[in-house]
Amino acid sequence: MSAIQRPAIRLFRDGDAAAVAALVCAAPDGPCSFEHDDATALLAFDRQLRQRGHVAARLVAEAGDGLAAAAALFETRWGPGGVRRGWLLLRVAPAWRGRGIATRLFGQLRGAAQRAGLASLHADARERDAAAQRWAQRHGFAVQMRSILCRLELARATPRAGGAGAPPIATLAALQAAGAPDVLGRAFALYRTLLEDIPLPDQVVLTPEWFAEFIGVCPDLCLIAHDGGQFIGMCILQPAAGDASALEQRLTGVIASQRGRGIATALKCASLQAARAAGYRSISTWIEDSNAPMLAISRAAGFSEHPGMVVYHQSLTDRRRADHPSV
Ligand SMILES: CC(C)(COP(=O)(O)OP(=O)(O)OC[C@H]1O[C@@H](n2cnc3c(N)ncnc32)[C@H](O)[C@@H]1OP(=O)(O)O)[C@@H](O)C(=O)NCCC(=O)NCCS
Repeated sequence: MSAIQRPAIRLFRDGDAAAVAALVCAAPDGPCSFEHDDATALLAFDRQLRQRGHVAARLVAEAGDGLAAAAALFETRWGPGGVRRGWLLLRVAPAWRGRGIATRLFGQLRGAAQRAGLASLHADARERDAAAQRWAQRHGFAVQMRSILCRLELARATPRAGGAGAPPIATLAALQAAGAPDVLGRAFALYRTLLEDIPLPDQVVLTPEWFAEFIGVCPDLCLIAHDGGQFIGMCILQPAAGDASALEQRLTGVIASQRGRGIATALKCASLQAARAAGYRSISTWIEDSNAPMLAISRAAGFSEHPGMVVYHQSLTDRRRADHPSV
C-alpha cells in the first residue's frame, strides 16, 4: 500500500464487485444491513434496483494496489406514505481509516441523494464498532433505533401456545400440496402488507418473481395462519448461510386487524416445533428495540439478546447544501 498517495474516488464498475465484497468479508463483526459479501449477489442487487428505477449509486476509493474504500447509496421506497428515502453504505479498509476518505465519499453521495430528491438518509453501524458510531454522529446522523441480534438454541426454547382463539396454521408447502388456490399470490400479498409495518426496510425491491424465489427456499418452514380462506399471519424461517444446523428468522407478522390475539405467539411456537423436528439447532434474528410486541414474543420463547446494529437517520431537507460535486 502506498502510504502517501491519496486514493482517487471514482464510480464503481462491475469489475469492482469482488473487491467490494472482499472489503465487506474482512469486517470483523460481519456486514451491515444491505452490504454484500458476495460479488454475484451485489451485482444482482444493483440490477434489481436499476430495473425498478430506484436511485442507486456506488463509488470506490482506489489506492495504488486495490480498494481503500467503497460506498453506496440506494433508494428505499418503504414505510408510511411511501416516502423516498436513501440508505447509505460506507466501508473503509482498516489501513486507510482516519484519513477523511469516508467523509469525501459521503459528501458525494449525500449530494447525489439531495439532487435526486430523497427526503432523508438511513445508515447503520455495528454496535461493537465504536469508531463507526463516532463517525456517524459527527456527520449529522442521529440514532433512530437499535436492531438487536437475538439468538435461540432450540434445545433451550420455551415455546408457549398462542391465544385460545388462534386460527389454524399450515406450512406453505402443505397449503400448496392441498391445492389451495393461489397460495403464492396470497402469501406475497400478505408479505407486502406486513413489510409496511416493520420498523425498517427489509427487502428493497419487491416483485412476485423475487418472492417466489425467496419463499421457495424453504416452504416447509414458512408458516401461515389462515382464517376462513384469508391469510392473516406468517412466520418465515430459512437456512442460514454457511451453517447447516442454523436457521435465520425472517419476517414474523400478523395483519393489523388481528393483532393482540396470540396469533404471532402461535406462529412462533409452531415454527420452533417445526425447526426442531427438522433437526435444526439454532435460530438467529434481528429485532428493533422499538418493536415491543416482537421483543416480548421473542423473550418469552427463550431468545437471548446480543449487540446488534445502531440505526441512524438524517434529514436531507433541513439544511440543503450545494457544495457536493456530482457523482
Ligand atoms: C409483532 C407482531 C407480529 C405481533 O403480533 P400479535 O399477533 O399481535 O402478537 P401476540 O398477540 O401473539 O403477542 C403479542 C405480545 O406482545 C405483547 N405486547 C404488545 N404490545 C406491547 C408493548 N407495547 N410492550 C410490551 N409488550 C407488548 C403482548 O402483551 C403479547 O404478549 P403476552 O402474550 O405475553 O401478553 C405484529 O405486531 C406485527 O405483525 N407487526 C408488524 C410486523 C413486524 O414488525 N414483525 C416483526 C419484525 S420481523
